[in-house]
Amino acid sequence: MKYSIKYFALFLIIFSCSKVDEGVVSENAMVVSAREEASKIGIKILKKGGNAFDAMMATELALAVSYPSAGNIGGGGFMVYRMSDGTIGALDYRERAPIKSSRDMYLDDNGNIIEGLSMIGALSIGVPGTIAGIFEAHEKFGKLEIEEIISPVIDLAKNGFVITENQQMRINENRKYFQLANKSKILFDDNFKKNDTIRNHKLAATLERIMVNGKNEFYHGETAKKLVEFINKNGGIISLEDLKIYKPIWRDPITFNYDGLKIISMSPPSSGGICINQIMTMIEPYNLKSFGHNSINYIKLLVEAERRSFADRSHFLGDPDFISIPTKMLTNKDYLENRMVDFSFEESTDSNKIGYGDILIPEANETTHYSIVDQFGNAIAVTTTLNGTFGSKLFADELGFFLNNEMDDFSSKPGFPNMYGLIGGEANKIEPKKRMLSSMSPTIVEKDGELYMTLGTPGGSTIITSVVQTILNVHEFEMTMNEAVNSPRFHHQWKPDSIRIELDYFDRDVIEGLLKSGYRLNDKGTIGRVDGILIRDDKMLEGGADKRGDDTALGF
Ligand code: GLY
Repeated sequence: MKYSIKYFALFLIIFSCSKVDEGVVSENAMVVSAREEASKIGIKILKKGGNAFDAMMATELALAVSYPSAGNIGGGGFMVYRMSDGTIGALDYRERAPIKSSRDMYLDDNGNIIEGLSMIGALSIGVPGTIAGIFEAHEKFGKLEIEEIISPVIDLAKNGFVITENQQMRINENRKYFQLANKSKILFDDNFKKNDTIRNHKLAATLERIMVNGKNEFYHGETAKKLVEFINKNGGIISLEDLKIYKPIWRDPITFNYDGLKIISMSPPSSGGICINQIMTMIEPYNLKSFGHNSINYIKLLVEAERRSFADRSHFLGDPDFISIPTKMLTNKDYLENRMVDFSFEESTDSNKIGYGDILIPEANETTHYSIVDQFGNAIAVTTTLNGTFGSKLFADELGFFLNNEMDDFSSKPGFPNMYGLIGGEANKIEPKKRMLSSMSPTIVEKDGELYMTLGTPGGSTIITSVVQTILNVHEFEMTMNEAVNSPRFHHQWKPDSIRIELDYFDRDVIEGLLKSGYRLNDKGTIGRVDGILIRDDKMLEGGADKRGDDTALGF
């Protein structure tokens, strides 16, 4: 009997080893980010006794050095947190429109969009929020001295980071745009190859000044003056006043329940939280497990919920400090049930027949994500961006960093698509000092009142649907975090009316079934790079670092 129990246990271990594809597992703390260097520096700060917010500053800045296509100090982002005592909150350090911006600034005299103007060069830049954001988080929650946090990042910038094959490809693909946007040669114009080391001494000097003078260096000091001069010289409109008055904003995250979980995600000006809430509430009445993962019916159900949610996104969402968003009604269960009454498994719905929902309003593509759980039990999810790959492609050579092209996240012309094909409405029109609508969805999940997951991803509009699918992969389909982030994904955003899908990784009969039901499919390459941490039943942390990128989970 003794032996049979022992052999049964052994069988279980062997069986589970062969079945489970786990990521890095650790006991106390973990950082998962797009680059090994950034995860390493984040972990170093935690090991020094820092908490998640100290590690946030270090990881964010290390990404600015080692992942310049999206990591940034010339962009902005969102952070969602859950403290070990269960208190939650969110920080909005999104860029905003310059004072001199105007509704039609990207239109010609005939009212047509001037191609590229909101995407490349100095006019596409929103007032950066990253430095203000990481200092704000540190001021409220951080434990370590700024110098202790930033010094290792300065060393990284000076000593350099080794470029990966993915980075070589990205730099090569974008070189022609660097040359288009910049008046003179920039650091990234060189023909870098995999395993070359890139040292950014100008960025190291900028970070040194920020370390000594704090955030004021970026918003009032020498860096501010140089930045404004550079932007204006290149035809931009950001002023010193824009930098001086920039402020990050603490916001209440969007929270809702799904099948016993509590989901905590980013509130407007991100559309992420509301859309995730809508999509998951629309699909909740169905037994997803019985459909099977990535089965025809599973895809149809999610796609139809996504279609309806993105239609609402385009009409109702924008900066809450400028417009009134009917959040309660958009996330109301009856409203969402009603949105799905015309859904059928037989036939796809035509996006042209789906307007935004009938709501009574009372008066009134390149981004990066990192997740951190510290040894004190605090968790953060942070998504930060330059918008496009290398943002506006404009590189402030003297300061050593790229500037965002976040202005393209506004609707340049309401009713017309932006670079993600997203149709924006009046709610997201350009207005001075307004924050542009985002899809970034840093998300934390609780189960039985305890921390369960922290996750997020880059990917423009696909961020929202990638986060939903990853949560479902773990919760409904019992995947490890590693399996969940690496699993094939699909996406629908109302318009264009097609499913974006990682085609090669889906069964042929699923693809044929979708086509037969009237769905159009397109395969534009990989979707997102989800980085997340799962707190397993045994309380160990499991990191999922998406294999679509160079993402790395490290823990101790
Ligand atoms: N720039 C991508 C987003 O904020 O959604």
